[in-house]
Amino acid sequence: MSENNRLIIFDTTLRDGEQSPGASMNLTEKLEVAHALKDLGVDVIEAGFPIASPGDFDAVLEIARQVEGPIICGLARCNQEDIDRAWEALRDAPRPRIHVFLATSAIHRDFKLHMAKEEILRRAVEGVTRARGYCEDIEFSPEDASRTELDFLAEVVERVIEAGATTVNIPDTVGYAVPSQYAAAIRHLKQNVRGIDNAVISVHCHNDLGLAVANSLAAVREGARQVECTINGLGERAGNCALEEVIMAVKTRADYFGLDTSIQTRRICPTSRLVAHVTGIQVQRNKAIVGQNAFAHEAGIHQDGMLKERTTYEIMKPEDVGLTQTEFVLGKHSGRHALRARVQELGYHLDEGQLQQVFEGFKTLADRKKLIYDADIEALAETQVHSGPALWTLDSFHTSDGTGTLPMAAVSLMHVDGRKLQDAACGDGPVDAIFKTIERISGIVVKLRDYQVRNISVGEDAQGEARVEVEHNGRIQRGHAVSTDIIEASALAFLQAINRLATRRQPKLNPQTETIRAV
Ligand code: KIV
Ligand code: ZN
Repeated sequence: MSENNRLIIFDTTLRDGEQSPGASMNLTEKLEVAHALKDLGVDVIEAGFPIASPGDFDAVLEIARQVEGPIICGLARCNQEDIDRAWEALRDAPRPRIHVFLATSAIHRDFKLHMAKEEILRRAVEGVTRARGYCEDIEFSPEDASRTELDFLAEVVERVIEAGATTVNIPDTVGYAVPSQYAAAIRHLKQNVRGIDNAVISVHCHNDLGLAVANSLAAVREGARQVECTINGLGERAGNCALEEVIMAVKTRADYFGLDTSIQTRRICPTSRLVAHVTGIQVQRNKAIVGQNAFAHEAGIHQDGMLKERTTYEIMKPEDVGLTQTEFVLGKHSGRHALRARVQELGYHLDEGQLQQVFEGFKTLADRKKLIYDADIEALAETQVHSGPALWTLDSFHTSDGTGTLPMAAVSLMHVDGRKLQDAACGDGPVDAIFKTIERISGIVVKLRDYQVRNISVGEDAQGEARVEVEHNGRIQRGHAVSTDIIEASALAFLQAINRLATRRQPKLNPQTETIRAV
């Protein structure tokens, strides 16, 4: 692959993606996703925003220590404290990158930063110089670049390259750009910035108008050689540019783009499923590449065409994105070895202790269910990834319900300090009654924003998956659980959300809304 034909894939699922409401992940979950991103073959993992919270700091630190191969990047505003903190988290990474950003558009200068152009230029240069004192790989982002005056943007980019930035990222922070205009901005920078060839031009597009992928690809045609993206297009508001869409566009239309990436495309679907499970944010059915319907052909004419010649209606092979025709099925007599292999194939990196737990869960499940499908194994593996600190565990529950009776639930919870607490409540149905009882015991009262139950595999003995989304004091939290009993799955999912609310950190800084402190 010649350097000029190589597109660098910068994944920001763990930073910009994680900023999506309710998508926050704990350390174990972030490490799991980081390992999966490495297996997928991304070049850069933006692991977090170290100054934002102790949780973000620890995640960047641990990913820097444990995930070898990709460049590990940490975000910092353009001030001394942020940059120093980012370096503290990144210093053990074999290949660290500090990503410094400062807004440049008139709107941000006037209303958010209260800074004139001169001051922006001075701070940008000072920030990059400070970061460069720590490591050689420095990325600079003029936030809200797509709404910045082109000449000023060119000036900022030129000055940060002079100061040592090795990647210049051009964010469409609010998803305002349209492809031809965004492409023209990249062209303008290529034609007007002295030293532009000394840095990689990167693009970072949000999807507010549904144009994030189109804008990124338009910029790539103009010479951008890094795309910042997230798995499943996760991210603030309407999300970020979806990694899987950019990758498959570049691969499927290699005739047009003439570019290569280091992505193992067969890892796309397993990684997408892992991120959906860990964050609880499901992919819409008709989502390109990873949606359930992405390769399903319903119309008779299409099916007929497909049978005659696959390429009549299919531009990509499902196997190329890791969708297998036949699901791997395990049963009661399958051994530890087969289970371990399947868990790894599905994208999980569990240690021996966790694998043992999964194996025990598998044996118990196999007593209740004849065939164990991938979705069942994923659900078992997830319990290991999700198992953050649980303040409460479900000891037992009982519900009563029926025509003309008042639905009731009695629940017993164990607190981590050893106390067993019991209570009972009525509700609109047995699930509502259980939720109300858990609220009474934990003392955390929430607003239920979403509740869904579905089967995760096929057959009458299929397990049911419950997902809840709750809101408490302006914070959104999700819970998810699986059981052959859907009332139990609902109780466990609700309890997981309550535990997360009880133990998760305080709200962290948001890089797109926080103002700057002195450099
Ligand atoms: O959208 C944005 O501008 C960002 C920057 C911090 C790169 O996420
Ligand atoms: Zn962003």
